[in-house]
Amino acid sequence: MSAPLAGRRVLVTAGPTFEDLDPVRFLGNRSSGKMGFAVAAAAADAGAEVVLIAGPVHLPTPAGVHRIDVRSAAQMHAAVFAALPADVYVGAAAVADFTPAQVAPSKIKKRGGETGLELQLVRTRDILADVAAHRPRPRVVMGFAAETDDVDSHARAKRAAKDVDLLAANRVGVPGSGFESDDNQLVVHDAAGSHALGPDSKTRLATTLVAMITARLASEAP
Ligand code: CTP
Repeated sequence: MSAPLAGRRVLVTAGPTFEDLDPVRFLGNRSSGKMGFAVAAAAADAGAEVVLIAGPVHLPTPAGVHRIDVRSAAQMHAAVFAALPADVYVGAAAVADFTPAQVAPSKIKKRGGETGLELQLVRTRDILADVAAHRPRPRVVMGFAAETDDVDSHARAKRAAKDVDLLAANRVGVPGSGFESDDNQLVVHDAAGSHALGPDSKTRLATTLVAMITARLASEAP
């Protein structure tokens, strides 16, 4: 078997993050982790040393992959930075953008009479943007974008704003792609343009993404 990523360290994030409100409740999202796990598996198949930092998901660890489980966006940020440096970073996790300002130490109770509950949320740190700004920077930084509208223009803007090399965008809310599906349809943006991939299985798409990453590594001066 060929091993084009032999000697390369690849860091992948996958799955959702859960932001605790109190000991029994959290804010989460619908990410299944399948796309990130498929990328981790494809990178390991290509011979890379792979560290997979996973939010709360129910998926088996791909063969040959070192997995670190985390829960919150803050824990994922810390785990990623503890695992750097790397040659490649793939941020496939659906990281919460906001987290509760405080975690209540005991269960939030109804007092009776109130008609609602206001939660104060604060921004999380952007792991992808922080990795792209970190020195030494991974040679290839890839992000994902899940969008419901204006997919291409949001993806182009996101790629430039976060200074990532590759940004894979997918439309959520359409059948046969997105969070829980085994299949996906992506448009991968780089500085030069975009490439449409799929619809295809997340496994086959991951193999193509890893080939794109490998080509970028090969084309750049060491
Ligand atoms: N991401 C991250 N850390 C965050 C938020 C997002 O690393 N705190 C990464 C995700 O892993 C993904 C990319 O940023 O690779 C895009 O995430 P997305 O939520 O789609 O976009 P946002 O940048 O959060 O923008 P918006 O919510 O406005 O769509």
